[in-house]
Amino acid sequence: MATLQDSLANALKNKAVIQNHMRQHQKCWEAPPELDSSAFSHPIQVFVRVRPLLQRDRDSGAFSLVMVQPPRTVHFTHPTNRWTGGCFATKTYDADGVFDEEATNDTVYGRLGLQEMIKQALSEPGHEFCVMAYGQTGTGKTYTTTAIEERLTADVFSLMPDENIPKLSLTAFEIRGGKAYDLLSDPSHNPVQITSANGSSTYPGLGKHGVATQEDLVTLLGKAKELRMTRSTVKNDTSSRSHCIVTLHIEHTTGDGSDIIIVDLAGSERSSYATKNDPERVKESIETNKGLAALKDCIRARLSTSNQHIPWRSSKLTMVLRGAFEQSPARSSKLIVLACISPSIIDSEDTMGTLKYITPFQLTGDAALEASKHHTGGSSRLDHASEWGHDDSVVSDPLMIITRP
Ligand SMILES: Nc1ncnc2c1ncn2[C@@H]1O[C@H](COP(=O)(O)OP(=O)(O)O)[C@@H](O)[C@H]1O
Ligand SMILES: [Mg+2]
Repeated sequence: MATLQDSLANALKNKAVIQNHMRQHQKCWEAPPELDSSAFSHPIQVFVRVRPLLQRDRDSGAFSLVMVQPPRTVHFTHPTNRWTGGCFATKTYDADGVFDEEATNDTVYGRLGLQEMIKQALSEPGHEFCVMAYGQTGTGKTYTTTAIEERLTADVFSLMPDENIPKLSLTAFEIRGGKAYDLLSDPSHNPVQITSANGSSTYPGLGKHGVATQEDLVTLLGKAKELRMTRSTVKNDTSSRSHCIVTLHIEHTTGDGSDIIIVDLAGSERSSYATKNDPERVKESIETNKGLAALKDCIRARLSTSNQHIPWRSSKLTMVLRGAFEQSPARSSKLIVLACISPSIIDSEDTMGTLKYITPFQLTGDAALEASKHHTGGSSRLDHASEWGHDDSVVSDPLMIITRP
């Protein structure tokens, strides 16, 4: 097996060829099928955000393998060993919206349509709005969810109705290794229990903190962030291994409520070497993967046209997010999945994993058919492997790129 250095050197040798392939591919881009207007009221929407190359990427000579075609397509060039000798290919993915390296947090926040959700949640009960960031560690999940929280904090107060003013409260906790920990109590209590009773999940031991002013909200969110970071520093980067769930509860004068939930998910990358040598981290990693797999199953069940049972009991994470999957006459839910990816060649295997993870969320019924038509077109000379959908041939060493003779 080649070392990382060999692989990177190999990829860099091919930089010009790969970038030329990407340019050729770009010439053949086609516009994606139009989204019909119902797409925006879809219960699940998927966005992709590509972070810029970081200094550490540049220092190692890495370059970008991702091209963003606004408003909603991402092209990703990746290594493949489909033919003897290895090769690379470009795949095309559609989402409800895509953000390139230059997109600002304001642009992202605006496109997700959060202000409209906040208005609805403040004006009537029965809404469950959830935004979650999914992706490998280091791709901008915390960067983006923090920015969303900051903007939400201001908007909740500027959009507050003049009468029938609802009461606000906040909870914040993280789930790691199948256990939940309060992020607003310091020193931390015993793990928070997550149980289900009478059709909803309950959290004995979790502190629910009243919010009267914007300053209260800023202070509480700051405290949660700080505690997460402190624990992470003390305990070997736990923040990348835990799901962080912040919920703004909006209680209306009728006694019913709406919720806005921001989720910064644990890193979706495969276990690292360090993890494999630490039994506690192996257990955590199994639980994290179980949660992310259960999340995928719940989203697919929610999208299914055959009224499938939603398997929300299969992990702590999905128990917590149950309201975001379920629809009932009394409650409406909306889930926004923001897939964060790195453009760097070093991260190509995990980028592929993230794009594969979100693909089924887009492909239901007619949409699947349209997408498959769109994606079989536009192939360039070196692009023979760019079929829409699945490709299990990604090499285990992401940097081992060999061009076809
Ligand atoms: N869109 C972006 N623009 C600039 N820097 C970014 C962007 N997204 C992420 N970063 C930077 O990348 C690094 C990793 O981001 P972070 O949010 O901590 O990733 P994650 O939470 O997914 O592990 C941080 O230094 C962050 O500031
Ligand atoms: Mg993070």
